[in-house]
Amino acid sequence: MLEVGDLRAGYGGTEVLRGLSLSVNKGEVVAVLGSNGVGKTTLNKVLSGLLRPRSGAIRFCGLDIFGASAKQVVAAGLIHVPEGRKIFPNLTILENLELGGYSRPKSVRGANIDKVFTTFPRLKERTRQLAGTMSGGEQQMLAIGRGLMSEPKLLILDEPSLGLSPLLVEEMFGLIRQLSDDGLPIMLVEQNVVQSLELARRAYILENGVVALSGEAAELKNDPELRRAYLGL
Ligand SMILES: Nc1ncnc2c1ncn2[C@@H]1O[C@H](COP(=O)(O)OP(=O)(O)OP(=O)(O)O)[C@@H](O)[C@H]1O
Ligand SMILES: [Mg+2]
Repeated sequence: MLEVGDLRAGYGGTEVLRGLSLSVNKGEVVAVLGSNGVGKTTLNKVLSGLLRPRSGAIRFCGLDIFGASAKQVVAAGLIHVPEGRKIFPNLTILENLELGGYSRPKSVRGANIDKVFTTFPRLKERTRQLAGTMSGGEQQMLAIGRGLMSEPKLLILDEPSLGLSPLLVEEMFGLIRQLSDDGLPIMLVEQNVVQSLELARRAYILENGVVALSGEAAELKNDPELRRAYLGL
């Protein structure tokens, strides 16, 4: 579905992505892992049309989306839930969801909201609550729900477990697995190596703006290099 080849991007004189290649296939959860500052969010910004890449190739569902605008990327069905949630704190849960559906016809909005409520029942209990007054975990659910309102063909999640308690991380990963079981392909960008490898089919480990290690998640879990570098084992 998504094919990224030799991608280069950065800010001013700094190159952050230095020839990065990866792919996501139908039906997969693919984890993109790496420590702070390796370029995970930069990759997401490029994929979602917020930062113009310098060179390389990006194809999505047969379309060339290299250098495409955010609007074109959303229209193609590549939906990005940004790091730090970025919900509208002064709007209600319902209003946030409605805004997420602006790119799709009004006629399908009600049904899509119902689908989001089925996945995240907690949101349904409090449709009129201001989003900014929800807990961190609830805000993350809202951010994902808002992404679902655009009817993604592929969902990119940037650090959905960031700042959540261990119990809530479990719950969040369970919900992500549920979305995947329902047939949604997901690119999961995370620092949480252990749980991401449990959830994903394949994974890419980024270092210095390139893929340092990649393969089946089940195999990477036992990779001595990965265990030493990321798990301190
Ligand atoms: N707007 C910007 N202008 C200049 N440099 C930036 C900008 N945004 C990010 N960077 C730099 O690019 C590098 C990669 O940042 P990025 O946000 O992609 O990392 P990350 O892998 O998402 O890290 P984290 O796990 O902390 O979210 C960092 O060195 C960062 O300081
Ligand atoms: Mg980041």
